[in-house]
Amino acid sequence: MSIPGGLVNILPETSQVSPEDHLVIGGCDLVQLAREYGTPLYLFDEGTLRRRCREFVGEFTSRYANTQVLYASKAYSNPALVKLFQEEGLGLDVVSAGELMIARAAGFPLERAYFHGNNKTPQELELALSHGIGRIVVDSFYELDLLEGIAASQGKTVQILLRLSPGIDPHTHAKTTTGIIDSKFGFPIATGQAEEAVWTAQKLPHLDLVGLHCHLGSPIFEVEPYAQALEVLLEFVYYVETMYAFQLKELSPGGGFAIQYVPEIPPPRVSEYAEVITSNIKNWLGAREAPRLLIEPGRSIVGRAGVALYTVGASKEVPGIRKFVSLDGGMGDNIRPVIYGSRYVAVVANRVSAPEEEKVTLAGKYCESGDLLIENITLPRLRAGDLVAIPASGAYCLSMASNYNASLRPPIVMLKEGKARVIRRRETFEDLMRCDVW
Ligand code: LLP
Repeated sequence: MSIPGGLVNILPETSQVSPEDHLVIGGCDLVQLAREYGTPLYLFDEGTLRRRCREFVGEFTSRYANTQVLYASKAYSNPALVKLFQEEGLGLDVVSAGELMIARAAGFPLERAYFHGNNKTPQELELALSHGIGRIVVDSFYELDLLEGIAASQGKTVQILLRLSPGIDPHTHAKTTTGIIDSKFGFPIATGQAEEAVWTAQKLPHLDLVGLHCHLGSPIFEVEPYAQALEVLLEFVYYVETMYAFQLKELSPGGGFAIQYVPEIPPPRVSEYAEVITSNIKNWLGAREAPRLLIEPGRSIVGRAGVALYTVGASKEVPGIRKFVSLDGGMGDNIRPVIYGSRYVAVVANRVSAPEEEKVTLAGKYCESGDLLIENITLPRLRAGDLVAIPASGAYCLSMASNYNASLRPPIVMLKEGKARVIRRRETFEDLMRCDVW
């Protein structure tokens, strides 16, 4: 038995179908995993995770040797994942003291961490500096002054990048578009604020401006926006080199690389993103020393490796309108369909090859009408107790999960060669009330 054709590039790479018609990932049968760990359950396929890391490192460094791949922790991070990224030679992009402390707890070398964010607090910057963070990616004039003061008080010089806004629309969801002028992130180039930021940073004695950064949005299903952004960024570099004797040692076009969620919308290959980014930089370089290239994939590293597994419960048919089939998870573990209208596919994990028979809407169990995971999907006729797997769930589901309705966030199991390893246990009712004061 084999994986249904449309799902081949969506499910984790190790996916198979067992002789019993069960979905198998990383050599582990999902029916058995559900029995052992309960549902909702999140699974990560270690093989897919490592291959994505190696693909990014390989495709970029083979074209541009001086590349550092930084995993964007916001897609999801926990100590076990951080350790894996360390083993694969990645650096980290962190966006809060919390992400920094997870990395630290995992023993990650923080000199390979870059701290982003449009409003880092004084406490976060103090913490980052005292733990020897590699770089701070400064996002505002307020932060330039704040960081100068903190660096001076700690007697340190901090290496910084400036986050710039190149004014390029990457044609993704409005809520995840970041590199346009009307964005809370970065110094816009077009308004002259980016130039002023370079000039200001160069004068501050405890800040060492080593590079420039931009991030356009996420997910980006085209490669052209990266070329356009680099053109704007590199023209700006040329200008500030001449005007302010700025020297570009590091350059980042950010992350945002797409993955496949549904069969009809394939993303570009990693090699295509790598080609457009590195060729634009190489064409511009001329006699200059090649700056270090930083790229920040988040979704494209963990997205495909992750699968959410749910159990079917109640069904409700509204005659002539639609049939709702409810699962035991929903917007608490995956809010993306609700806030971005994100689309997913589903597989019946306990009978993968059963014929598709009816169109249903897969609803969550949360007390909100909008809690629908997948609308109008054609699936085998579902019965209570069936297991529904939703692939491409590794990015921004768990990291945006909540305890809405006082639900318990799901456990995560890492799968490899037939072995399952819990990397996060299911929350308990005690966890729910841990911070409450009686
Ligand atoms: N670098 C910076 C500065 C970023 O802001 C982001 C994502 C990334 C890298 C990583 O982007 P990725 O490679 O993962 O696409 N919650 C949304 C996504 C928000 C992304 C925020 N920034 C979602 O669920 O689609």
